[in-house]
Amino acid sequence: MKNGFTVFVAAFVAFGASWLGLVYGPLKQLGVAKETTVLQLGDKWPVQRTGAATLGLQVYRGNGCAACHTEQVHQTGAANVISITDLGSHKSSDLKDFITSLMVVPELMNCSNAITGNLAGWNGELPKVLYCGAQDTVVSLLGDKLKAVGVKTEPRVITTGTDIARGWGTRQSVAADYLYDSPVQLGNLRAGPDLATIGVRAPDLNWQLQHLYAPRSVVKDSTMPAFRYLFTVQKIGTLSAPDALVLPKAFEPADGYEVVPTPAAKELAAYLVSLKNNAPLYEAPFTPITAAK
Ligand code: HEC
Repeated sequence: MKNGFTVFVAAFVAFGASWLGLVYGPLKQLGVAKETTVLQLGDKWPVQRTGAATLGLQVYRGNGCAACHTEQVHQTGAANVISITDLGSHKSSDLKDFITSLMVVPELMNCSNAITGNLAGWNGELPKVLYCGAQDTVVSLLGDKLKAVGVKTEPRVITTGTDIARGWGTRQSVAADYLYDSPVQLGNLRAGPDLATIGVRAPDLNWQLQHLYAPRSVVKDSTMPAFRYLFTVQKIGTLSAPDALVLPKAFEPADGYEVVPTPAAKELAAYLVSLKNNAPLYEAPFTPITAAK
């Protein structure tokens, strides 16, 4: 073989380049991901799942849930928002004039149209959004100027995007969210909703179990398959089992029988309610509703 050396070098470069791109690159970028802290609260993030929920991840994986569900919330942007929350001793019309008079401040000039536009037709109802945009200097400046005259304002960072608008999360998913997941169940097809925050939307274990047993018993016309084999239909003994599902009439088993979840179903439900990727982080900031109060 005359070209043995060339073939070797070509193969080495081809495999080497893919190794660099597919293994080394991502490892360098994400391999150092570690526990971080939640903004404001300082709690650790993410929190290790309970034992049952950790096993539940494998049930999720084994049943192909990721074929129809993703666990990744996308976000297109973030905006700084400031709203008036308390007028102090002012009337809204006076305040409108005062804010309009502030528009000569150089930092505010660029967005003066947006701000005066927001105030047009305002009759004093609160909270009133004054500004929503990219500039955090506008927010801090307006906040300072209004505070000086006794008006209370609330600055917030909000996230935007279609997933956020659908209520699937409050912020985008970041690498740290998946630290304790092995393997990570990102999914790439959304026949059903994203589940990254299903533990916030549906925190009730019984709801989760009933939905798995008979999706249509809780969501009318659901097209999700029923995972009946994760449950046992058994004859009711002297007493009914404490964990037997309470089902609507149309979904009840035959008289004298009850539906009880298998350990796998319970683990899966524990995993689902543990999916709560919504803590504000340095790499994905936003102002939680509760912190504003
Ligand atoms: C063939 C596609 C498909 C598969 C497979 C599937 N789902 Fe679903 N899932 C759906 C659809 C469609 C919906 C929306 C209707 C509904 O809520 O029942 C849904 C809804 C859900 C919801 C409620 C979401 C919400 O926002 O209310 C949960 C929780 C859920 N699925 C969990 C699972 C789990 C766990 C598995 C695996 C055991 C699974 N799904 C497998 C299609 C699927």
